[in-house]
Amino acid sequence: MTLINHMPAGISEAERRMLEAALIMAENAGAIHMKYFRKAGLEQTTKLNDSDVVTIADKEAEQSILDYIRHIFPTHGVISEESGRDHDDNEWRWVIDPLDGTTNFAAGLPPFCVSIALERDLKAVLGVVYSPYLGECFYAVKDKGAWLNGNRIHCSDESTLSKAVVATGMPYDRNDNPDNNLAEICRMAMRVRGIRRMGSAALDLCYTAAGFLDAYWELNLKRWDVAAGQLIASEAGAIVESIRTDRNHSILASNPRLIATMREVLRDEL
Ligand code: IPD
Ligand code: CA
Ligand code: CA
Repeated sequence: MTLINHMPAGISEAERRMLEAALIMAENAGAIHMKYFRKAGLEQTTKLNDSDVVTIADKEAEQSILDYIRHIFPTHGVISEESGRDHDDNEWRWVIDPLDGTTNFAAGLPPFCVSIALERDLKAVLGVVYSPYLGECFYAVKDKGAWLNGNRIHCSDESTLSKAVVATGMPYDRNDNPDNNLAEICRMAMRVRGIRRMGSAALDLCYTAAGFLDAYWELNLKRWDVAAGQLIASEAGAIVESIRTDRNHSILASNPRLIATMREVLRDEL
């Protein structure tokens, strides 16, 4: 698949140039993921604890993205998961998760992706999330909409919680910190049709954007987990809001019909 064959209509020349660059970077990173996925002897180490894995594919994919940005947009800033910040106070800044869903990836499970956002003055103006094994490329341009493989996407219109399929995640410090989302998961699980832990925050947001999930929430994420997916979800009509101010990026994304009910369950008010 060549991702730039799926360029949407109705965007400006400048937006097209940036989106094309992001799609090329995503495609290169995806090819690196696929070179290692389900191959014996994957080189990997742990970071915070045994649940926090990083592989050679994360590092190589990140390097290819950073090399491309430095070559094509030498003045732009970058924040990326494995290498940190570089001129990130620039008006234009790329926010990169070179492999979101590394636990899935290292176990041989398909929900993993690369997530690339471009921010202008700290606000995302475009986002690309590419899941190479599944062959799905989600992207959005601010105020222009969101697409999956070139087709416009919209969030679901489900309004009944007992018919909703929702996703969540658990923070890496869940063993040391009792504020670990378990109580919320138990409450939610009793009220919805199905609850999923997909293992990739970026894909959770994109699946909410496309209406495959009705809602998603998670605590303690990082900017690179959510920068692209959040824009894709909101451009597809979902509401994305912060649910906690004390734990990094803690977000609820939902179709507008379910957001109030989701909030109530999470706050234990329903
Ligand atoms: C993780 C995934 C996971 C979420 C974690 C993230 P990583 O990102 O998005 O779904 O629950 O909080 O850190 O480590 O695979 O890039
Ligand atoms: Ca991530
Ligand atoms: Ca990652």
